[in-house]
Formats: sequence, structure tokens, C-alpha cells
Amino acid sequence: MGRVRSEEELYRETVPALLAWYSYNARILPWREDPTPYHVWISESMLQQTRVEAVRGYYERFLREFPTVASVAGASEDRLIKVWEGLGYYSRVRNIAKAARELCERCDGALPADYALLRELPGIGDYTAGAIASIAFGIRVPAVDGNVLRVFSRLTGYRDDIRTEAFKKHVRECLQTALTEGEEQAGAFNQAVMDLGATVCIPNGKPHCDQCPLQHLCRAFAEDLTDEIPKKTERKARPVERKTILVIVDPDGRVLLHRRPAKGLLAGMWEFPNVPGHLGAAAAKKAAEGILAEAFGSDGNVGGLRSHRLADSRHIFSHVEWEMRGYRVEASSVGENRKIANPEYVRVTPREIAEEYGLPQAFGTYRLQV
Ligand code: ADE
Ligand code: SF4
Repeated sequence: MGRVRSEEELYRETVPALLAWYSYNARILPWREDPTPYHVWISESMLQQTRVEAVRGYYERFLREFPTVASVAGASEDRLIKVWEGLGYYSRVRNIAKAARELCERCDGALPADYALLRELPGIGDYTAGAIASIAFGIRVPAVDGNVLRVFSRLTGYRDDIRTEAFKKHVRECLQTALTEGEEQAGAFNQAVMDLGATVCIPNGKPHCDQCPLQHLCRAFAEDLTDEIPKKTERKARPVERKTILVIVDPDGRVLLHRRPAKGLLAGMWEFPNVPGHLGAAAAKKAAEGILAEAFGSDGNVGGLRSHRLADSRHIFSHVEWEMRGYRVEASSVGENRKIANPEYVRVTPREIAEEYGLPQAFGTYRLQV
């Protein structure tokens, strides 16, 4: 058996062990090919709440359309949201746009090579500032996210809740010390921890300790505590909201969309009109009439609706869950000549939805029914 190491030694010894491992095991990821500050910023923003496999395609598409900070600063918010559509947590792309505008006003669109200045930009927290500073600029700072906390809680045998600010701060400080004395490869080190957390010291299920370059250092492994660490803490149950989604279609196959309020969940995005609660067929028709009156103004009738029930679906957001019931409503009375009177609504073709309107993933089941 190895000797007992101090915590500081433990952290320090991970640096060479992980760098050696990473040189053979680094995942091939699109944002690693040309890690400019802008590329790292976009990829890390996408990766904040989304898995690597889901991010790949989005990252490439985003960069094709917005190859530079200036192109983001000059884009419309609707277009940015459309390109982000499906990734979720849309405040990320709004913050990217805000930060891009700031950068273009202040410094020709260049990201600052400075942790504290990066940290001041909208949407850039400790983790993202650390990732950009280390990966793009080679600055010796850690980048601590949930995966990093998991790896180091196991390594050091930390048995309490890892989601506290205090533990995060502790890990950050320990890594800062380890890196200061380590080599000039903070970016590679930070990404090595991320890859280890994603492929070896995994979150759900047994970690692959037999393949781990830190096994000889690891307390959770030595004491057979990998099931207990990190400690499972109960998450608060999400409130469940019931909704009835109305896919309202006119005789030409165009669909009514509503713009969500500028604040709150899915702010400013488009949605199928919907009402609270699970409505029966008659009540749903009545709700559709109300929505048509709201959209088209009260001129003329909105009678003659035919509706049928669509599949139920659910969507889990970070803090709420939607349980949705859907109806497709055919509105024969809203022919071509009737004009939308309310700017919160648009009547659009399926093709326009596909190409122009940012419709969140939550409505995925119903967009297939258009
Ligand atoms: N998760 C978050 N950032 C990452 C990165 N740069 N590489 C791999 N996984 C990540
Ligand atoms: Fe994680 Fe196992 Fe490696 Fe410890 S030995 S860091 S528990 S994978």
C-alpha cells in the first residue's frame, strides 16, 4: 500500500498523472481543434448544461453562422435563438450576445486574457472564466464544475454534500495551489479532469476505477466508497404544471404561434398557444376561440372549429415540469384575408417555423403535428 498523503499532496499528484493520461486519452472534440478564445467561450457556454454529444452538432452549426464575436454582436436576437433552438437554457445565448456587444464596443471583439475581466462578462461565471482563461490563454486557473467536484470528492474521500459553495471554493483553492506548482498546462489539466469525469469517474453507475490513472491516489477506491461518494442529496421535487397545447391551423395549413413574455421561462421565444390545465375537447375548442379572437381581433366569427386530440407529452425544465395535453384545431374561418391584429401572434407556414421561428424543444411533440 502507498503511504498516507496529505490532501495537498493528493491534489498535486493528480496533475502529472492526469496530464500523462490525457496525452493518450483526450477525446477528439470539435472545439479542441482550434481553441481560440471565441471557440472556447462558445463551446463552454454550450457545455454548461448540455452533454458533449448533444453539443457537437450545435457547436459546428453556430460557428458556421457566427464565425466571429462581431458576427454575434451584429445578429438579431431572434436569429441567435433560432440557431440555439433545442439546446435549452436560452439565457446562455442572450448573455453571449450581450457580452459580444460589450466586447465589440470596448475592444474590437477580443476576449480579455484575464480571469477577473472574463468573469465580469454576462453569462461567464467562475467555471467558464476558468475554462476560457486556461484553455484559450494558458492562464493557470482551475475550472470547477460538477464533474470536477465529483472526481475530487472521490479522490479525497469527501463524504458530505458536494454541491455547496464551501466545497466548490475548497476544491478551487486546492487546484489553484496544485496548478501553481505544476506545469504550464492548466488548460490540458482542466480538460483532463473533464474527460476523466465523463468517461472514467462517471456520474451514474460504477466508475471505471480499473482504467483510472488516479486509482493509486484515490480514497473512495481504497475504501470501497465509490457508491457512497459523492453523497446523494435529495433534490427538491419540481412543481408540475398541466397545460393544454393548441396547434391551431388555418385552411392553408398555416399555424398560429404566440410570442412568450420577455421575462421568465423561455423568455421571448415562440410557442403554440396554450392554456393552463388539461382541458376536455369542448373546453379546448372554447379556449381556441378565445385565442383566435385575441390574435385576429374580434372582427368576424371564429366558429366552425374542428379539433382532435394529439399525443400527451411532458417536458422537464430545471425548475418546473410541464405535463401537456394537445389538440390540433382546424380553424376554417380564419381564411387568407383575415389579418393578425395582435403583435404577440404570427401565422406561419411549417417551413417558416423550421427556418425562422425559435420554438423550444418543450413543444417538440406538437411541432410534428403541424
Ligand atoms: N465539459 C465542459 N467543458 C468541456 C470540455 N472543454 N471538454 C470536454 N468536456 C467538457
Ligand atoms: Fe473515480 Fe475510481 Fe478513479 Fe477514484 S479510482 S477517481 S473513484 S474512477
